[in-house]
Amino acid sequence: MGYPSVTNLAVPLPTRYNGDVLQHSLEDFAMTHPVRIVGISGSLRRDSFNTGLLHAARELLPAATTLDLADISAIPLYNQDVQLEQGFPAPVQRLRDEIAAADALLIATPEYNYSVPGVLKNALDWVSRPGPQQELPFNRKPLAIMGASPSLFGTVRAQLHLRQIAVYLNLLPINKPEVLVMRAGDKFRAGRLVDEPTRALVADLVQALVNWTRELRGE
Ligand code: FNR
Repeated sequence: MGYPSVTNLAVPLPTRYNGDVLQHSLEDFAMTHPVRIVGISGSLRRDSFNTGLLHAARELLPAATTLDLADISAIPLYNQDVQLEQGFPAPVQRLRDEIAAADALLIATPEYNYSVPGVLKNALDWVSRPGPQQELPFNRKPLAIMGASPSLFGTVRAQLHLRQIAVYLNLLPINKPEVLVMRAGDKFRAGRLVDEPTRALVADLVQALVNWTRELRGE
């Protein structure tokens, strides 16, 4: 449905149209079909570079796009006994509902010992479990990944581990652009991402996620 592309139009255009009319039609379509993204930071640190990346993404959103940041700080350690006997704890259920309602996910992960932090893996583990109606909030959800580190490797090893995890969750990650923010200390001031090339890269990543989400929705 909608205006997928100039060459593949499912809705008839006005018989006499020009480029401006088509551009406005595409914009109108986007405005009535917003993309809602949920962002998850893998760091609970107050001045986290990775949470800072998500704040930058929120400043750089394309039109008709929202980004809400999930809070994983209250999520308890995964215990299947708790899940089976009491159901999902309230902070887990909230995160599951937020992800289920979202059109796409944006994860900013630190690298801890060459992998994702335990707090992030723990949150993903909770959400990965089927609910009472076998619901799987991650199933076929578009995903974009970014990460920042003071080191020269910019979280590349953690991001590759996250991509491996995404296979089992049946998330649908985009591959490019890779947002590997190295020497993060040089790129943030008072918690805000100020490095312009990195800001442009984050904007490109969000745009790519929105494009991918719309493509999967058949728009
Ligand atoms: C780190 N750090 C780190 N950095 C890195 O590039 N590769 C690594 O493997 C690790 N390992 C690691 C383990 C643990 C337990 C800690 C606490 C830290 C450093 C890490 O990149 C740095 O603390 C970042 O600032 C963490 O991200 P936030 O909290 O700023 O988002």
